[in-house]
Amino acid sequence: MLGVYLSGTGNTKHCIEKLVKLLDESATILPLENETVPAQIKSSDMIILGYPTQFSNAPFMVREFILSNADIWQGKQVMCVATMGAFSGDGAGCTARLLKKNGAVILGGTAPSYARFRM
Ligand SMILES: Cc1cc2nc3c(=O)[nH]c(=O)nc-3n(C[C@H](O)[C@H](O)[C@H](O)COP(=O)(O)O)c2cc1C
Repeated sequence: MLGVYLSGTGNTKHCIEKLVKLLDESATILPLENETVPAQIKSSDMIILGYPTQFSNAPFMVREFILSNADIWQGKQVMCVATMGAFSGDGAGCTARLLKKNGAVILGGTAPSYARFRM
């Protein structure tokens, strides 16, 4: 299992580290900016992808990453985790649809509110 996150103020990093380690203690967890991420995704079966909701959408950087690495998603099982402050809109669904178009198998999506995961 591979955890990948984009995080500005640390909420998403915190969520992904907790969730991924609960699911698989030996999993690798990397920030999206890490240049090895495309290669790591290619060699993983299951990916937990986390990012903050921005304007009820996934951040541009995440959508751009998915599209500019369109060849790495075929057959990958992906769960989308869109953290949020108040209302996620369809923040998890936005990347799920994009990933599905590029061949990923979507395991699910969730949008945890930071008011809850900071407690
Ligand atoms: C530019 C910007 C836009 C945001 N838009 C939304 C939004 O539409 N809905 C929402 O619930 N939270 C929104 N938020 C709040 C973040 O999604 C939330 O605080 C998130 O947990 C931040 O994650 P991070 O600490 O990993 O960066 C926005 C935050 C920023 C900075």
